[in-house]
Amino acid sequence: MRSIETFRDLQTEAAAWRRYLHENPELDYRVHNTARFVTEKLASFGINHIETGIAETGIVALILGEGGDGPTIGLRADMDALPILEASNKPWSSKIPGKMHACGHDGHTAMLLGAAKYLASTRNFKGSVALIFQPAEEVELPSGGLRMVQEGIMDRFGISQVFGMHNSPGMEVGKFGICDGPILGSQDDFDIVVKGKGGHAAKPHEAIDPVVIAAQIIIGLQTLVSRNTNPIEALVISVTKFNAAQAYNIIPDRVEMAGTVRTLVPVLRDFAERQILAAAQGIARGFGADVEFKYRRSVPVTFNHTEETNLAIKVARDLVGPVCVDNKIKPRIGAEDFSYMLEARPGAFILLGNGSTSGLHHPAYDFNDEALPYGIGYWVNLVETALAV
Ligand code: NI
Repeated sequence: MRSIETFRDLQTEAAAWRRYLHENPELDYRVHNTARFVTEKLASFGINHIETGIAETGIVALILGEGGDGPTIGLRADMDALPILEASNKPWSSKIPGKMHACGHDGHTAMLLGAAKYLASTRNFKGSVALIFQPAEEVELPSGGLRMVQEGIMDRFGISQVFGMHNSPGMEVGKFGICDGPILGSQDDFDIVVKGKGGHAAKPHEAIDPVVIAAQIIIGLQTLVSRNTNPIEALVISVTKFNAAQAYNIIPDRVEMAGTVRTLVPVLRDFAERQILAAAQGIARGFGADVEFKYRRSVPVTFNHTEETNLAIKVARDLVGPVCVDNKIKPRIGAEDFSYMLEARPGAFILLGNGSTSGLHHPAYDFNDEALPYGIGYWVNLVETALAV
């Protein structure tokens, strides 16, 4: 187990990579320049086995330990930015208006590169490490993590366990947070069209007003959460779109609504899909209207496995001391597509303190480079612990 001081030397170099990536953000699967940058760095560290073009722009690089045969563990970073106009006013602000690294994936990529440089030069472990750089974490389905799994990276590279990390603004630099079981929520989306009968706004009795019916459906959906699910099991149903007529004096013949369902309990997705339809249909039919309904399953619950979570806790505690590792953080309801890798293999996802920067996806957010040695140190010590010679 190496101390955090070991990794401070890498901070300046990793910060330079991070700031280059920050200045040059790319979206979704189109992270071509980022992937080229990552590939060139990996090659310069003496890593020979680099496979590119997985899920279009994803990369898997293998570092073989010098400690003999052993399993392969996967470490994952995401590379994509967000369609946001940056307002951080940092000297390394985005050069591309309307695109920015507002989720710290520039930092995630730089930390995995830093670990790659260290591990490639020391190779003090058995078996091998698969460095997974994925595109398109932030996109609608199919996202990059899902596609890399679908393209067979787990079997192809013989990966037996996977580990992920995300920075956490508001948590002090030098601290880690993790929990066993669900750590981040699932994300599903739905569309409801209420089909009534349009007419003149002054003659509601001649119409079937889908606006009033849709309003009742919205309240009904909130009642599903408050009255039909266990209060200690988290479920969020939010209606986020509502489109009706564009006039003062017209009752439209249809209202289009859409929303999102988030939960930490996988079976509640089945409940939500079934009961949203039942509630919407029941309410609409009661007033002589009908509904069209679509439910789209997106990112599953990010579910940490016990054995790998305990390993992650041990590694983090050894690096920063037990008081700086919260091993029972409250799960967060935001979704993360590393969940697909955790469905494919056992593993653990950990949060890394990023200090007092703005929140994720905020225009003023900037990854805090002080966190780089902690992330690099976590990766290196995880490998040297999981694959101890
Ligand atoms: Ni993110």
